[in-house]
Amino acid sequence: MQELDKIITEAKHAFQGARTLPELDQIKGQFLGKQGVLTDLRKGLAKVSAEERPILGAKFNNLKTELEALLESRKNEIKAQALKERLDNEKIDVTLPGRKQSLGGLHPVTRTLNRVTDLFSTMGFSVASGPEIEDDYYNFTSLNQPEDHPARSMHDTFYLEGEQQLLRTHTSPIQIRYMENNKPPIRIVSPGRVYRVDSDATHSPMFHQIEGLWIDDRATFADLKGTVREFLRRFFEKEDLEVRFRPSYFPFTEPSAEIDMTFKDGWLEIGGCGMVHPKVLNNVNIDTECYQGFAFGMGLDRLAMLRYGVTDLRLFFENDLRFLSQFSG
Ligand code: DAH
Repeated sequence: MQELDKIITEAKHAFQGARTLPELDQIKGQFLGKQGVLTDLRKGLAKVSAEERPILGAKFNNLKTELEALLESRKNEIKAQALKERLDNEKIDVTLPGRKQSLGGLHPVTRTLNRVTDLFSTMGFSVASGPEIEDDYYNFTSLNQPEDHPARSMHDTFYLEGEQQLLRTHTSPIQIRYMENNKPPIRIVSPGRVYRVDSDATHSPMFHQIEGLWIDDRATFADLKGTVREFLRRFFEKEDLEVRFRPSYFPFTEPSAEIDMTFKDGWLEIGGCGMVHPKVLNNVNIDTECYQGFAFGMGLDRLAMLRYGVTDLRLFFENDLRFLSQFSG
């Protein structure tokens, strides 16, 4: 009798010690298994007297039932505990911020391009475009670029096979194409990709320019200065931005100037400009007795770099999202 109580206490203790179902299964073997405590006990029953046997037998059965009940309840406890742990671990914290579907954004150069064309359109310019693969005539000859001009060398220009065609080195050929097909008054800007054999922190073999062209019966250098200065002031949102026109040379303009703007403590070159050369107007059959005008070209990437404070041009073209995503939104 006492022995049975002891078995119960021991079993309770042992079952309680099991943390997992496989552990519990193992302990179950020690008590209820073939070689377990109960089997030993049953064997012992054979040895008792015939009168005692039914009483002890009944006790034995009770003990077995009790052990099985204990086992079952511990099993349920372990299962409940495991479920609780899973629920605790997998619970959803509804206060966490949602996972955002990330949206793409426009490339900083595209944003700049849009901003520039928007500003020029408020000043009465429309947008024209032209092919990136040009020929010698549109890229050079029509623009009064002499045969021996260094820009025409293989050194600076990407020629396509056969050398009949080339990747345009500037957006100026769009001037010619537009004037061939449209009569003055003309007021256009032409943004686009251009290509040159050049590569370092401030030069990339592919970059972007914006060309401007204004032709009518009275456009003067003063209009050119006013237009460019007004644009730059609006673009950089700086009313006191100073712009300087430094005498220079371009074959397609006369007179010609470099456009410099105030930057930090000095001047920074931002483009070129001038009064469209009469030879260029002749090439597109515009009567120079009646019409005149000006043109300008600026580096779009340079404008983007200045506006966003980017110091290495190559960052724009590496397409690293850690860089690019800073501009979207
Ligand atoms: N096409 C010139 C360049 O790429 C820039 C330029 C200068 C454009 C003067 C013009 C201009 O329209 O008038 O260096």
